[in-house]
Amino acid sequence: MTTGLLDRYGHLLDLPPHTARVTLLEGGTPLIPTPRLARRMGGGFDLLIKYEGLNPTGSFKDRGMTAAVSEAVGRGAKRVICASTGNTAASAAAYAARAGLGCVVLIPEGKVAAGKLAGARAYGAQVVQIKGSFDDALRLVVEITRRHPIALVNSINPYRIEGQKTAAFEICDDLGAAPDLLCLPVGNAGNITAYWGGFKRYDEVKGSGLPRLLGVQAEGAAPLVLGHPVEKPETVATAIRIGRPARGEEALRAAEESGGRIIAVSDAQILEMQRLLAQEEGIWVEPASAAGLAGLAQEVAAGRLDVRGKRVVAVCTGHGLKDPDIISRATPQPKVIAPTMDALEEIVLQSEERQP
Ligand code: F0G
Repeated sequence: MTTGLLDRYGHLLDLPPHTARVTLLEGGTPLIPTPRLARRMGGGFDLLIKYEGLNPTGSFKDRGMTAAVSEAVGRGAKRVICASTGNTAASAAAYAARAGLGCVVLIPEGKVAAGKLAGARAYGAQVVQIKGSFDDALRLVVEITRRHPIALVNSINPYRIEGQKTAAFEICDDLGAAPDLLCLPVGNAGNITAYWGGFKRYDEVKGSGLPRLLGVQAEGAAPLVLGHPVEKPETVATAIRIGRPARGEEALRAAEESGGRIIAVSDAQILEMQRLLAQEEGIWVEPASAAGLAGLAQEVAAGRLDVRGKRVVAVCTGHGLKDPDIISRATPQPKVIAPTMDALEEIVLQSEERQP
């Protein structure tokens, strides 16, 4: 029977006894082999994508949200709030709706991808745009939850991290052990923190081993690479457009403990990887979700990472449908033709055929 993550893995998570069960049957996302992409990076290793875009609201946030909202309901909360670059907002809105709670989301004006904003609105959240960054929004929601009884469901909330550990459990269950290397995008740094906690927990109970972590930020929003906050973060990967990651210290510690690193890649590298993944493997992810793979490609090409004979998992955090506008800008407009065979033949026979 299909179950939610708390039923499946709750016994391994540090959740209080009052925790309720609010679920959309999240998790259970596939681990998809991408041999063509691996060959492009030099080959000789296994590359698998943990496709988190297949969660109920289209991102990995649902893993943390089932836990955070379940805990909030259990302790009698009536409303939840979060700051978000978009995915957390859509996920919080959906799980709040499911639980019958009110939901307020604070987002940076004009910097949230269309599919995420539409999601938050569709699920009925009160959407508030601020003239500022995600970091400003986070500061405000932390402050308001200190003053009023509204539950904070950003990844500062420890139960978000607990829920997100389940992705590491699933990877170990699928592979029979931890992979050698895990690469993933880093924004507010909750997810890399959760993965590391999850792998450590599974290693304790199942002896599944530990991967090295490669965390990847966007160059214009790379406080953990620069070693200081970024006042005006900018990147095409709006999901990770964050200058003061709330769990930055933990993320750096996790990367170091694992023998890995946090690095940065350019927007051009991110978009090129998004294109390759979609056009050569059939997996469409939002730009931020391609950052982990872009970082992997960069490190392998530079000879800083030897992946030969290894098993590498790349976490693709959100679905491509979240950000359709980026594709409209990056690809040519589809042609319009007259409804005749001449016109169709002319256009079809012009275009090249692809070699498999
Ligand atoms: N990928 C996507 C698609 C995201 O939405 C986020 C974060 C990340 C990666 C980075 O994860 O913050 O745990 O390091 N999105 C948050 C949001 C900030 O509000 O949706 P992180």
